[in-house]
Amino acid sequence: MDIRKATTADKDAVLALNKNVYGGLDYLPSYYDEFLKNPIAMPFVITLDGKIIGYLCALVVDNGETVVHRAGRIDPKFQGKGYYKVLSQHVTEKVMERYNLKTRGMVTGDDNLKAQTDSFRQTNTLILTRKCRDSTVTIHCNL
Ligand SMILES: CC(C)(COP(=O)(O)OP(=O)(O)OC[C@H]1O[C@@H](n2cnc3c(N)ncnc32)[C@H](O)[C@@H]1OP(=O)(O)O)[C@@H](O)C(=O)NCCC(=O)NCCS
Repeated sequence: MDIRKATTADKDAVLALNKNVYGGLDYLPSYYDEFLKNPIAMPFVITLDGKIIGYLCALVVDNGETVVHRAGRIDPKFQGKGYYKVLSQHVTEKVMERYNLKTRGMVTGDDNLKAQTDSFRQTNTLILTRKCRDSTVTIHCNL
């Protein structure tokens, strides 16, 4: 297993990981190239035997005090094995090497079942809930 910075060459493999993120309203196809160019964005991929199995982009805001995890996803064949947890921890550590982080935030939809588990609720504090089209969107933070 390896975690490294995402590149332009990874785009097709990342977008092929899951075609139904956010109920078909996935913004990553439009934002993938933007995240590579944006100085406050740090996109990463996780690979297994050289094959991309997941993606996560950190967006650093509030003058470096807050990181927001965006567009995270794991190939459905590899979900539930802890890869996302490893990826998000690694990405947060990489951001901490450069910034004086105080908070990590994440936006989740009600189709993200992992975000409704007791262990998720115990480690993350709910700060906002909003109705958005047919879904409920929540913002959590921790650190
Ligand atoms: C959400 C998703 C990435 C989780 O991947 P996974 O490989 O099943 O996750 P893991 O096995 O590593 O478990 C996730 C762990 O990270 C934690 N976590 C941290 N941030 C999380 C987040 N934004 N969403 C889900 N889990 C999160 C969970 O609490 C869980 O911890 P636990 O094992 O102690 O319960 C995966 O289900 C997925 O790709 N879903 C489709 C895309 C999607 O909905 N992305 C949501 C972006 S917010």
